Amino acid sequence: MEINAGKYYLRALRDDARIDDRPAIIAGFADPESKRWLPHLDVSDLERAGAYIARRRAAWADETRFSWVVADPLTGEFLGEVLLKEVDLEHGTAEAGCWALPAARGKGMTTEALGAVIRFGFGALGLREITYKHYAGNVASRRVAEKLGFSLVRDTDEGALLILRNGTSGTGGG
Ligand SMILES: CC(C)(COP(=O)(O)OP(=O)(O)OC[C@H]1O[C@@H](n2cnc3c(N)ncnc32)[C@H](O)[C@@H]1OP(=O)(O)O)[C@@H](O)C(=O)NCCC(=O)NCCS
Repeated sequence: MEINAGKYYLRALRDDARIDDRPAIIAGFADPESKRWLPHLDVSDLERAGAYIARRRAAWADETRFSWVVADPLTGEFLGEVLLKEVDLEHGTAEAGCWALPAARGKGMTTEALGAVIRFGFGALGLREITYKHYAGNVASRRVAEKLGFSLVRDTDEGALLILRNGTSGTGGG
């Protein structure tokens, strides 16, 4: 399932003969900011990156998680990842997530791409509410959630929980 997200397009993660996202994923998780804010993810070699992509493929098939590459529209090159995880189609809930390659940050890319994914979640998947979590101090992540219209539920020393309900806010154009 591909999504047109304004200046970008969203596609499945790939490691086939034509497109191999593994090197970009390894480079992305080697970045200090990614390590700091996504400490549970160890994707440091091709084997782990391949397993990472395989997990996303399997989760898509069992409808528990939907992950997209944010891709350059001309080259298809990997720029970041946007996703809905903890998807519960019966109760209409999910949690949004994102990360971007360092060179792609600060251009509004993740906000635009995650906005498209949220519209997909509310529209195509019929979700009622989407949560967003980030560690305390992750200013860029907080800003993305705010720009997408998420409201703060709680802010603690460990981190923040925000929520967006279907129909309560715009998720940007595009
Ligand atoms: C969080 C992340 C995905 C944002 O991606 P991005 O493509 O740069 O996001 P956008 O450009 O759409 O928006 C980023 C916003 O944060 C702001 N920002 C970034 N760093 C900031 C900082 N140190 N202080 C204040 N604001 C900051 C940007 O100015 C921008 O806001 P603006 O449009 O009001 O100027 C990216 O920084 C990243 O990959 N971080 C490491 C992994 C991570 O933290 N993932 C989220 C885990 S919850």
